[in-house]
Amino acid sequence: MEWLRIRPEGTYLDATAGTGGHSIEIARRLTTGRLVALDRDPKALEIARERLKPYEEKVVLVQAEFSKIGEVAENMQLPPLDGVLADLGISSLELDSPERGFSFRWAAPLDMRMSPETPLTADEIVNHWSEKELADLLYQKAEERDSRRIARAIVRSRPIRDTEHLATVVAGVRKARGRQKLQPATKTFLALRIAVNREEEELEQFLSRTPATLSIGGRWVVISYHSLEDRPVKHAFQRLAREGSFRVLTKRVIQPGEEEVRNNPRARSAKMRVLEKIAPAESRPAGSWK
Ligand SMILES: C[S@@+](CC[C@H](N)C(=O)[O-])C[C@H]1O[C@@H](n2cnc3c(N)ncnc32)[C@H](O)[C@@H]1O
Repeated sequence: MEWLRIRPEGTYLDATAGTGGHSIEIARRLTTGRLVALDRDPKALEIARERLKPYEEKVVLVQAEFSKIGEVAENMQLPPLDGVLADLGISSLELDSPERGFSFRWAAPLDMRMSPETPLTADEIVNHWSEKELADLLYQKAEERDSRRIARAIVRSRPIRDTEHLATVVAGVRKARGRQKLQPATKTFLALRIAVNREEEELEQFLSRTPATLSIGGRWVVISYHSLEDRPVKHAFQRLAREGSFRVLTKRVIQPGEEEVRNNPRARSAKMRVLEKIAPAESRPAGSWK
């Protein structure tokens, strides 16, 4: 909230509203200002809507992917934005709902979709992709060093019934390799989630569309949770700063302190970067974002 430096009369967009934690904090700092709270997950938005009831005059909830930030701003005829926040990845709601299949803690369908409109499921990948496609996926999206062995074990164990079955198959490979530091299936589940939800493509679009939506002085805060998220954010921010219309406010990435991690262990891998728009971008399309 400090980095967003909220102006009570400003216009803000929370690109990952989830169940509304950050959105509430933004909304309660607004007087005549407005907040667009966006998420692709309709179940999260249902909860956010309830929690944001006290601020309903200032908040509009939108079910959309954040890659569509330009269209959303255009369709809603929003003025240039004073702040955009993205808290990437999945929410605790998604992770802790057994039936959504994001976690290896329960036997659940291999789903992993953040939005029911997403066409691909984890089941399709796990039970139908070739061994090579699976190995490449695990290596490229989650830097899984045992990708080939895990891919082979998955293909041999088909059909994989559910998340628990998958976790057991992966654990078998990792155990044989004596690598047991993380929960053995962590990276496999991460890779599947990234692929199902096209997270890299979504982030890439978001990073290229957001600059044009910001006002001069507008701030853009992005929190990421693993290197495949943080790297593109860092590079995009550096490039925009080099081009001259933005400056990076976080010369060193911001990470949670010990106390925050103790109170909220899921924050442990969080990295926050902040960018500020200082001049109109030259590439801004004529006529838009007056
Ligand atoms: C870490 S949670 C955000 C939690 C939120 N800041 C809060 O305070 O409750 C990430 C959220 O982003 C959403 N999300 C992930 N990728 C998205 C995308 N491409 N477009 C829109 N929402 C997305 C997820 O559905 C999830 O609810």
